[in-house]
Amino acid sequence: AGLAAQYAALKLAPRPVLMLSPEPLGEGASSSWAQGGVAAAMDPTDSPNAHARDTVLAGAGTVDRNVAQSVTAEACAHILDLTGLGAPFDRTAEGTYVLSREAAHSSARVVRVLGDQAGAEIMRALAVQVLKADHIQVLDGVMATRLEVSGGRVIGVAVAQCSGGLSKSIALRGPAVLLAGGGSGGLFALTTNPPRIRGQVIGMAARAGAQIADAEFVQFHPTAMACGLDPAPLATEALRGEGATLINRHGERFMRGAHPDAELAPRDIVARAVYAQTQAGLQPALDTRTAIGAKILTDFPAVTQACRLAGLDPVTQPIPVAAAAHYHMGGVATDMTGQSSLAGLWACGEVASTGLHGANRLASNGLLEALVY
Ligand code: SIN
Repeated sequence: AGLAAQYAALKLAPRPVLMLSPEPLGEGASSSWAQGGVAAAMDPTDSPNAHARDTVLAGAGTVDRNVAQSVTAEACAHILDLTGLGAPFDRTAEGTYVLSREAAHSSARVVRVLGDQAGAEIMRALAVQVLKADHIQVLDGVMATRLEVSGGRVIGVAVAQCSGGLSKSIALRGPAVLLAGGGSGGLFALTTNPPRIRGQVIGMAARAGAQIADAEFVQFHPTAMACGLDPAPLATEALRGEGATLINRHGERFMRGAHPDAELAPRDIVARAVYAQTQAGLQPALDTRTAIGAKILTDFPAVTQACRLAGLDPVTQPIPVAAAAHYHMGGVATDMTGQSSLAGLWACGEVASTGLHGANRLASNGLLEALVY
């Protein structure tokens, strides 16, 4: 019941929807932990074409261009729609959207909420709408464990209660099943995702015979906080967009030699460089002191709170970072309508592989894809 699930449930009106959520609505979903925001060409000097071009370039040669064109063309309409549903995006005094810069974007293009609160605030706004929608029934505390298939068509799901270990399952029948069950971060030694998310839904679809695409395409975020916690709190890429630098224990800016765009190189390149520094014992860290200074306390409240929990003062100290499993680009293969290879089965959000992200998702295109699909 993350962003993809809740938005889809709302858009399916007036069809009746039964939403299954292992945790209370919105909790346990990676969407709520998203810091950066949603990528959309909202500025008059920007365009969906430029956004599509950046998406294709970042994706390491494997993005479906038609998908990139169509998703980026729809982005602005979805931001306006979310605004109407109550998402409190940051605005300038003139009322235009405040846009953050993130790696591999050619413009500032990420709509945000209170600096680094986009996921939490969008989810809060949607949950209000879902809970008051007459056509949606939310069943929480349960997990889907198996797809029911008959004659090559998905006809329902088996569900079991989560508490006290999975109970005996019961079968629920329905004319259509939409999978929106997140990625696989919890399978890895270090992740930025809620720990329950371990690829269960991709596995369930594969066991039912659905086609899975690019399962090996897993994205690592370069600046998870290396503070002994797993899941690791995120230090959003928007910090580097504001000029924060990556340094090692000798104070060297190691991204300068790694890519012409340095800290704003595509995420896979930055993640590999951070990982190499960690492996060499060079203790990579994100230095926000000069570029952001004390403004981090007001402009990035989630990062500030995570630093405090870790006993760090980001105004005076660099933030230790590590690469951590962050987003699964592969997943249940879908066409441009979100239909899987099995009749009766659709997928959207991180569990789906639509072709938008290729081998390396462009920052803040994840929430966008969840909205569009
Ligand atoms: C971030 O805020 O750095 C994460 C954005 C994303 O994963 O799209």
